[in-house]
Amino acid sequence: MSATINLEKKHFPVLLDEIIKIISPRYGGTFLDCTFGQGGYSEKILENSKNKVIAFDRDINSIKLSKKFKKHFGDRFEFNHNRFSKIEKINSNNLKAVIFDLGYSTDQIFDEKKGLSFNFKGQLNMKLGLNSFSAHEAVNKLDKAELAQIFKFFGDEKDARRIAQSIIKKRNKNYLSTTDLVEIINKEKKNYNYKINKSTKIFQSLRIFVNQEVSELIYGLINAYNLIPIDSYIIVVTFHSLEDRIVKFFFKNYSEEKKVSRYVPISKNKNKFFELFNKKAIVPSSDEIKKNPPSRSAKLRYAKKIKNGANFEEFLMKFKHLLEIENIGKKL
Ligand SMILES: C[S@@+](CC[C@H](N)C(=O)[O-])C[C@H]1O[C@@H](n2cnc3c(N)ncnc32)[C@H](O)[C@@H]1O
Repeated sequence: MSATINLEKKHFPVLLDEIIKIISPRYGGTFLDCTFGQGGYSEKILENSKNKVIAFDRDINSIKLSKKFKKHFGDRFEFNHNRFSKIEKINSNNLKAVIFDLGYSTDQIFDEKKGLSFNFKGQLNMKLGLNSFSAHEAVNKLDKAELAQIFKFFGDEKDARRIAQSIIKKRNKNYLSTTDLVEIINKEKKNYNYKINKSTKIFQSLRIFVNQEVSELIYGLINAYNLIPIDSYIIVVTFHSLEDRIVKFFFKNYSEEKKVSRYVPISKNKNKFFELFNKKAIVPSSDEIKKNPPSRSAKLRYAKKIKNGANFEEFLMKFKHLLEIENIGKKL
């Protein structure tokens, strides 16, 4: 049997060589691929016959591909159609690394039914899978203040309030579609001279909200730490600044000897649960960006777990306001 599965993939696995360089010294164990997608990382890891992969993906379309993997790799591959915040449920010995490649695969972006992009006409959707509400419901049911918060905090959108106001006015007459939303944004952002599309930030904020990406990431990271044994790695590829801020804080805050009061005995001063290897994030080479332009915003951070017993209260407090905004979704 050949080592590779030879799939016709449209998705380039981002920073794949860099990830393999990090994990290959640890080959001969189980790797948790939290974002299976088009299977690029899993396939590469399984090329080595000593490795096993446990994969997760929330998209129902990934089940079909996972079956091909299962047929080809047998017991060395296991798939869970689930959100990666649920990885605590897996039972694995010999876990060497947990890998998250956040964002969306090319197939998902070009899937009109998913409605992730402002380039397609049709109904707003944005559900990756296993969601409880769509962007359509959010835009058509939430009030002005709630929409403005989502746009501001998840999209860093300067004109959040004005756009939210305009949505409320317009939707009284009709349910808003993707095209209506793009029209509203274009109208409200008149003197705009940035390089990115006017709709980029609003659409990003809705994708984050609909897929509850902040809580997925925060609980995914905490559960990964609780799951892995000492000496295992957590590796994360992010695609926008909000994700990167969360990952950076998680690793840095729990890697340093923190300066606390001089009255606290030294033994209680230790807050070092990870060993960090790169202060700065690893980014794609110019060659990779040339071959796959969407990789230009990718950032890779990773760390090794060196101690049990971390308490993540400070991490949760730091991003409490974002978790509260995601909670608005509970009423939909
Ligand atoms: C960028 S793609 C991964 C590509 C993959 N590394 C490859 O090489 O083909 C991200 C994938 O993660 C999945 N995903 C995103 N958030 C998730 C979550 N919270 N739980 C499980 N899967 C998630 C998406 O459905 C998508 O398939």
